[in-house]
Amino acid sequence: MIKNVGVVGAGQMGCGIAQVSAAAGYKVQLYDLSADRIETALATINGNLARQVASGKLSEDQRKQALALIQGSSDLHDLSAADLVIEAVTEDESVKRKIYGQLCPLLKPEAMLATNTSSLSITRLASATDRPERFMGIHFMNPVPVMKLVELVRGIATGDETFSAAKDYVSKLDKAITVAEDFPAFIVNRILLPMINEAIYTLYEGVGSVDAIDTAMRLGANHPMGPLQLADFIGLDTCLSIMQVLHDGLADSKYRPCPLLVKYVEAGWLGRKSGRGFYDYR
Ligand code: CAA
Repeated sequence: MIKNVGVVGAGQMGCGIAQVSAAAGYKVQLYDLSADRIETALATINGNLARQVASGKLSEDQRKQALALIQGSSDLHDLSAADLVIEAVTEDESVKRKIYGQLCPLLKPEAMLATNTSSLSITRLASATDRPERFMGIHFMNPVPVMKLVELVRGIATGDETFSAAKDYVSKLDKAITVAEDFPAFIVNRILLPMINEAIYTLYEGVGSVDAIDTAMRLGANHPMGPLQLADFIGLDTCLSIMQVLHDGLADSKYRPCPLLVKYVEAGWLGRKSGRGFYDYR
């Protein structure tokens, strides 16, 4: 029975997971490395909840209740009461493995640990924990409060109880579930990221401008955002890391990351979060 949810990483995904969990009545501990990051995260969540009040999706009382259920912390020990911890840190396997090493000894033996990884092997990540049978992928989409879907991914050792507890948790968030097998980038990103990478090739080869490519896909394919705008929104470092996982894991040249994407990431042009990507946000 999940009552307390821990979230590790207070970036855009971690904030969203904390927000929707609290809005569904779960008690949430949101962890990040510094008090500053926690303060920024809580302000972001408050802003998002206030927007939902303004658009009539939430009452003022519900906003206050949700906010009161979220506690921020920069001490991993504060996650020790969690029944489920969702790790939502950067897409870097060594960082994730290090966090599991620090976190696992602090958790209750029966606690579940999940990763919000967008592409990495669940089975391999599970091997860095002390609880592979209580470990799995719970992959939210960005922006978490808006997107209806959550992908559930079992590792080779994930137990039935863990999987059904995760299903129950996600259903209580009023999200739809798809189950994906543990293959590189699962379903959504296996399909979405090659499309984004192709859009970057289209720019790289001079087929169209940023505006032409995004307009073409918004108006010609009814996508809510153009692929280059979406890449900036996801984060170009995340896009590159997913393409690298696809390229390495499936060993097919069709997944080769576009050199322009590589160059932008090397320049520190990571999209919206860094102020510059295919668009300028400064
Ligand atoms: N956080 C929280 N809420 C947000 C938000 C954000 N970052 N951005 C927008 N919203 C909310 C708005 O508050 C608004 O809510 P209300 O209806 O309650 O007012 C609603 O979303 C619609 O927003 P807007 O009217 O401002 O803008 P829009 O209609 O252009 O929609 C969008 C914005 C929902 C982001 C839309 O452009 C969209 O769906 N884009 C595609 C998103 C997408 O493809 N996400 C998946 C990315 S892939 C992924 O996440 C997997 C991965 O691992 C990389």
